[in-house]
Amino acid sequence: MSQVAELKGADIAKQYLVAEEPYYCPVADEVETYEAAYEARMPMMLKGPTGCGKSRFVEYMAWKLGKPLITVACNEDMTASDLVGRFLLDKDGTKWQDGPLTLAARIGAICYLDEVVEARQDTTVVIHPLTDHRRELPLDKKGELVKAHADFQLVISYNPGYQSLMKDLKQSTKQRFGALDFDYPSTEIEADIVAAEAGIDKDVADKLVQIAHRARNLKGHGLDEGISTRLLVYAGQLINKGVKPDVACRVALVRPLTDDPDMRETLDAAVSTFFE
Ligand SMILES: Nc1ncnc2c1ncn2[C@@H]1O[C@H](COP(=O)(O)OP(=O)(O)OP(=O)(O)O)[C@@H](O)[C@H]1O
Ligand SMILES: [Mg+2]
Repeated sequence: MSQVAELKGADIAKQYLVAEEPYYCPVADEVETYEAAYEARMPMMLKGPTGCGKSRFVEYMAWKLGKPLITVACNEDMTASDLVGRFLLDKDGTKWQDGPLTLAARIGAICYLDEVVEARQDTTVVIHPLTDHRRELPLDKKGELVKAHADFQLVISYNPGYQSLMKDLKQSTKQRFGALDFDYPSTEIEADIVAAEAGIDKDVADKLVQIAHRARNLKGHGLDEGISTRLLVYAGQLINKGVKPDVACRVALVRPLTDDPDMRETLDAAVSTFFE
């Protein structure tokens, strides 16, 4: 980049800095491990069920490392151009617009591709040259080869639960990443998180976590996913606002999870053993 372009890049980068420390409660040695991975600029994959803290972790790490964070929610309609960029038509003719991946590579951001398995494989392959020793991104349509900024790092998230044979990452994609496994935190830590995030007493948070444990045991026996930490925080927030705990649990924990009447009854019964 020229000096002028670099200055502009620094200005843009500032917009993507995480301004305030996100609340993140470490569950193991993931913070230290990630720091080492970042130092090596190793592409990282965060695996784990929905609502267990993957996105929060990336925000926290971006803040801790003082690096800009650019997040992209992936979906099956996403094309390579959505990531890389495209020519746009305006009154003066055509103008190139960088996509989020290109922008991240230019300004030295952490680029977080959320639920990358949702994207089609022909979209996913555009990240390959950025994830090996080349650290570059060819913009074929524009005829430019972007060399990634020294601070650039790619992070993807992946929910193994939704994985099917049709929807999985190619080995040649998977094997470009180091991976961290995420899961719901241990009882003690999860209750701390729920209490802190929702602003409720620890003993109430503890009961919510115990309800979640009952539901998580039903995964694969009528439930596709267990109750996430995110939903526990929702229930806690309703309780904090004065909603009766049993009602809060039904609204935030049971109803979102399943439409099956028997399963709802089972979960409602679990709620009743903790909150009357
Ligand atoms: N270790 C943690 N420290 C602090 N908060 C946490 C932690 N784990 C989970 N949470 C809480 O759970 C919520 C959901 O976490 P997050 O959005 O990071 O989930 P996710 O794993 O990215 O889910 P998805 O796969 O659906 O995107 C957060 O908003 C936060 O309130
Ligand atoms: Mg997320």
